[in-house]
This record gives sequence, structure tokens and C-alpha cells, in this order.
Amino acid sequence: MSKPKVLITRRWPASVEAKLQERYELTLNLDDHPFSLAEFQAALQNYDAVCPTVCDSLPAEVLNVANKRCKILGNFGVGYNHIDINAAKQQGLIVTNTPGVLTESTADIAMTLLLMSARRGAEGDRLVRAGGWTGWCPTHMMSSDVTGATLGLIGFGRIAQAVARKAHHGFGMKILYVKPSPAEQAIVDDLQAVRCDSIEAMLPHCDYVSLHCPGGNETRHLINAERLSLMKPSAHLINTARGDVVDSSALIKVLQEKGIAGAGLDVYEGEPNIHPGFLNLENVSLLPHLGSATIATRTAMGEKVLANLEAYFAGGELPDRVV
Ligand code: DGY
Repeated sequence: MSKPKVLITRRWPASVEAKLQERYELTLNLDDHPFSLAEFQAALQNYDAVCPTVCDSLPAEVLNVANKRCKILGNFGVGYNHIDINAAKQQGLIVTNTPGVLTESTADIAMTLLLMSARRGAEGDRLVRAGGWTGWCPTHMMSSDVTGATLGLIGFGRIAQAVARKAHHGFGMKILYVKPSPAEQAIVDDLQAVRCDSIEAMLPHCDYVSLHCPGGNETRHLINAERLSLMKPSAHLINTARGDVVDSSALIKVLQEKGIAGAGLDVYEGEPNIHPGFLNLENVSLLPHLGSATIATRTAMGEKVLANLEAYFAGGELPDRVV
């Protein structure tokens, strides 16, 4: 019997590609270029399974292509706001994702950005490299404490809880959170976390705010000029979730006017494009969507996709089915 035809739209860790190659008739994107919409449509017509990533935007007009062979999109990533899930459903396409395995590495990047922003790490690095450091001085590059400060989390799922654990147990931070329903009591007790009634009620109390909600229409510009104006002038905003959760222009304005002390960003509206306004600001730390970028995590993400494909082709229950 011939093997199912599988296509992965970007290069994956070599060990996972090798396993895919053993089990399927695999097509690799050898030069690792971002797929065009036309290439993606051709993939849907020619493969049994297509495995996209967060950098493949898959609106209805792409998924609705005629003469599809593909039955399953094995997304390499936990977030799936880049896929029109309703259109996928209407088209009878199964979508799977990779929850759980990138929680700690993404939370580590949130803490990295929190520390970089608080302690002006990127700014200090730029100063030293530019030869602008003239020596230690009692008032040079003073910054904000992290230990004992208050961290507000918007969204309180797996990644937010991992950030809260690192912040509370590692840095003695006080944890506030906003979530539609209360978190499990054992988690609340462990973190001494306090649930706030609304984002508006929480923001004025936070020294740091970290975003952990999905992107897409429902959360687009959740953090806008009005909400930014509720943050303390000494506070920092951290975004490792999705770029469109924050109104970039409003954030740039508030950073320029020192309405907040700083921001740390791993994700951007329309990435990989970055609003040019961020590039000249000293008080923003910018990372290139590194949340899950460890060897172990990216390998585990690939293994998750593999497990879902295996289950699908064996006719079994899919471990991470979204629709
Ligand atoms: C995801 O999996 O959604 C991440 O953004 C990739 O790091």
C-alpha cells in the first residue's frame, strides 16, 4: 500500500523530519521559504496531510480551494489564530495543534522580556556595543526591581500559570490575574493569586503586565490607548501571546511619552513586519518570536504533530484535535 503524502511548509528539527520521512511520502520545503497562498492551495490539492506553522496565514479563500486531497492540517504550534477555523470546519478539514509542550519555554521568554525590560538589558547591551559606556556611576541606568513587585496576567491558561509560578516562587512576585472563570483552587493557593474583576480593575495595581490570550478577532487591540492609560508610569507591558492583542500605534505613543516605563515584545502585528516606531525607542525590548524556540521544545512540537498524524492515518482518536 502506498504511503500517505505529507507536506510540511517549513523545515522542522532534523530528528522529526527523519521520522516523518520513514513513515510517509514526505515533501520538504528545502529552502525553508514562507509559503505563498498559491503554494498552500496547491499543497491542499496534492497532499493527504499538510502541516503549517504560525507563519502560514490560512483564510477562508485559501482553504476553500477546489479539488482538495488534504483531510488534515497538523499545525506545528499551539496557537491557531492564523487558520480560519470555521472555514476549515465547513470544508471538513481536521485541524490539530501542539498544546502543553511549549508552556515552559514560552514562559521563560516572558520572564526574559520582563527582566530585560525592568533592568534595561537590551539598552545596556546596545550602549556597551556602541562604545558609549564610560564606567560605573551611582546614577547610571537605574531601573526597576522585579523581586517583590506585582505581576498582572491577562489570561490565566497554561503559559500564564507557568509565568506566575516562575515569578512567584522565583522572584517573590505578587500575582494578579484576569480570567472569565476562577482558576483551580490548588493553583490559586500555590501562587496566592488574586483574581480581578476586569482588566480595568487590575491594570492600575500592576508593576508588570503579561499578556496570555489567543490572538484573532476577539482579542484584537484588547490593549488599546485607553487601557494603556490605566497602567502606572513605572509599569512594563510584556507580550509573548500574539501581536494583534496590542494596538502597536497606541503602545508606541505611550512609550514615547513615558506613559509607561517599558515594554518587552516577542510577537508583532503583521509579523515578521515590525512597526518602525518601535525601532527607535530605547524603552522597548524586541525579540523575534522566540517563545518556543528551544531545541527540545521544537522537537516536542514536531513529535506532537507526528502523534496526531499517526492517530489520523490509523483511524484512531486524535490527541490534539481543534476541529
Ligand atoms: C505557537 O505555538 O503558537 C507559538 O506562537 C509558536 O512559538
